[in-house]
Amino acid sequence: MKRDFLTLADMTEAEYRSLFDRARELKESRKRREVVTTLAGRHLVLIFEKSSTRTHLSFEAAMYQLGGTVTTITSSGSQIARGETLEDTGRVISGYADGIMFRTFGDDRLNTLAKAATVPVINGLSEGGHPVQILADLFTVEERLGSVAGKTLAFLGDCASNMGRSFVEATRFFGFDLRLGCPEGYRPADALLAEAGGRVKVLTSPAEAVQGADVVVTDVWTSMGQEEESAKRMKDLAGYQLDEALLAKAKPGAIVLHCLPAHRGEEISAGVIDGPQSAVWDEAENRMHVQKALLEKLILG
Ligand code: CP
Ligand code: NVA
Repeated sequence: MKRDFLTLADMTEAEYRSLFDRARELKESRKRREVVTTLAGRHLVLIFEKSSTRTHLSFEAAMYQLGGTVTTITSSGSQIARGETLEDTGRVISGYADGIMFRTFGDDRLNTLAKAATVPVINGLSEGGHPVQILADLFTVEERLGSVAGKTLAFLGDCASNMGRSFVEATRFFGFDLRLGCPEGYRPADALLAEAGGRVKVLTSPAEAVQGADVVVTDVWTSMGQEEESAKRMKDLAGYQLDEALLAKAKPGAIVLHCLPAHRGEEISAGVIDGPQSAVWDEAENRMHVQKALLEKLILG
């Protein structure tokens, strides 16, 4: 049976532990310039329906560094944009590849492709979540601060975004408390919050959300596909910028995460993202290390 990774619920807490152990080993090997060829002869197809820098490059680097190969396509440059179904696309790619990474819009598209493909499908960002990013984020927290269990994370801004939603979901598997700082209209659905079982608090005051937190996270105010709402979003979220004054309310030694791309002067100040508490460059690098462990797990079993 092939295994997909579409949401964080697709793996268990124990599997996440061994995934992080393996990612740590692979990161160490890379630093020592050791050659690891666990995915030699394996092929991955990346499909993008939205732009990408990190997801594109980190999956390609992960696959090549493990001895495998990759093909990257966009929906606009393939027959998908001309109406070929995702079912047919998934079936065909399964004949060429050992895995598919898909970045798309609605989760219905992700699920349709995953159902038709006979090889593992990985969510490379959808409207419902960005689970591979969350893995890199929590791996980075553990590298800097030790176990994430029992820590308090604060997420500011558009908490109904794919990143906000995946952080809420992650509380169930990683045992941290999450404070969401957002205005009305930018909170995740009640059903998702209920699933988190009391680990998530939603606050309209960004200062209260950040108070005493170990980790402060933010993300763009306008996600891909929401460009038409940009002016309204800037206005609604204006008081939620993660700046130096807000960060000073977190624990001394708190770290800052942002999945990138960032907009300095909007959701985050330049002083914070480029400052001493920022862990964003490690976070971006860790995408590759964690995804290597994920690819090994899904492709090799
Ligand atoms: N963080 C992230 O997924 O970045 P890209 O959009 O550049 O892939
Ligand atoms: N929430 C952002 C994340 C980008 C990696 C978006 O969907 O555009």
